[in-house]
Amino acid sequence: NQDRMSANSGGRPTCVVRGSINHDEYFYVHHIARPGETISSYDHESRVGGKGANQAVAVARAGAAVRFYGTIGEDGLWIKERMERWGIGVEGILVGDEPTGRAIIQVDEEGENSIILFPGANHSELHETLFSRHASPSSSPPPPHVHPASASRSPLTSHSSPPTGWFPPATHLLLQNEISRASTYYALQHAREGTTVVLNPSPLPSEEEIRAFMWHRVDWLLVNEREARGLYGALTNRGGKEGSARASSSPRINPGGGGGVGGSGTGNSMGSPTQTLSNRELIARLSALPAFANVNIVCTLGADGVLAFVPAFHRPRTPVEAPSFMHLPAARLIGGVPKDTTGAGDTFAGYFVAGLMEFGEGAWVGRGVGHGSDGRVGGRGREIKEADVVRLLKVCVQAAGMCVEKSGTIESIPTRAQVEERMA
Ligand code: ADP
Ligand code: NA
Repeated sequence: NQDRMSANSGGRPTCVVRGSINHDEYFYVHHIARPGETISSYDHESRVGGKGANQAVAVARAGAAVRFYGTIGEDGLWIKERMERWGIGVEGILVGDEPTGRAIIQVDEEGENSIILFPGANHSELHETLFSRHASPSSSPPPPHVHPASASRSPLTSHSSPPTGWFPPATHLLLQNEISRASTYYALQHAREGTTVVLNPSPLPSEEEIRAFMWHRVDWLLVNEREARGLYGALTNRGGKEGSARASSSPRINPGGGGGVGGSGTGNSMGSPTQTLSNRELIARLSALPAFANVNIVCTLGADGVLAFVPAFHRPRTPVEAPSFMHLPAARLIGGVPKDTTGAGDTFAGYFVAGLMEFGEGAWVGRGVGHGSDGRVGGRGREIKEADVVRLLKVCVQAAGMCVEKSGTIESIPTRAQVEERMA
């Protein structure tokens, strides 16, 4: 199998995006429709969308090899053709019985948007059916791979049977949250050992799903501020107040005690609403939760840029020291104000994964991060240092900034050459 060779034998890194692909309908309006109101749009366009597709395009524009796995209906064949034209591997786009997922997007004159999603074919589990069939021992595709570390690492899966299905080979796997939970779980459980897993849990799952999620399978968590607060709220309490016992009892960092993380920390973490936490405090506490042990967190902050926290860069023996945050301001925009923020997060995500891919197959961050490449093993590739991540984030904020300067989503994702020209 050629794919397998290229992903597993030190060839060019390949990213698989398993995600959503939509027919996006844009309605350009003077203002976003209010309850009970009927308005006319002054323009209308049909475009390719879906977070999975958007991010796959961003990976491709950033110059990396990417293959997309998702499902459309007969009505979406034009979308598959476009994806192929944009340089994305489309052999993983299946045509099923359900209609193509759709987004109804209102964009107002300020570039603000309002979106209704119809998941359609995105919620089919066609791939999982096919992948499972591939797992039969007599079939030609690669044999099932079982994560040797999964049983000991995973309290969530230790009581279930070990994964036996097939999953397309890749050095990097990029997931969002616009496909069924079963499909996301399948990908997380069957991604091969050594695959770097990047998850952008958008839109956020329910609180119950958040609490049950296999966070330990994720190497890099990519969230915006709203999502970060939502995750923290779901994992620490049942309704908007902090239940910070678990967070503050972490041996790794103690963000509330002794300052050092900046922002609004008072040392008293009891009972203050999640909303009042500074972003740094929020991310430090999120990172200290058991769910995110060994998960690197990248939190985009809109016009405030991005905040990243990598546990391996933090010195555990000096708890008073500020955790190692990387904060990069947003790019300066031509014209000063954003034109259309749709797709900013997806542009960021695609560029981020493409940047990780440039570190090569099996690249790893410090101790314990990277499936099958924890500190003990040392990883099969190079070690990713703090300065590497900062350099990578700089490219991401520039790319995302260029996206908000233009209207549209995929149309506004810049190429790597355009990003580099602006950075020069
Ligand atoms: P999402 O689109 O997922 O809500 P954000 O709003 O955090 O995510 O935006 C993602 C990234 O896009 C930010 O980290 C930033 O780099 C860039 N960005 C978003 N809004 C602006 C803005 N107003 N000015 C400059 N850059 C922006
Ligand atoms: Na845009």
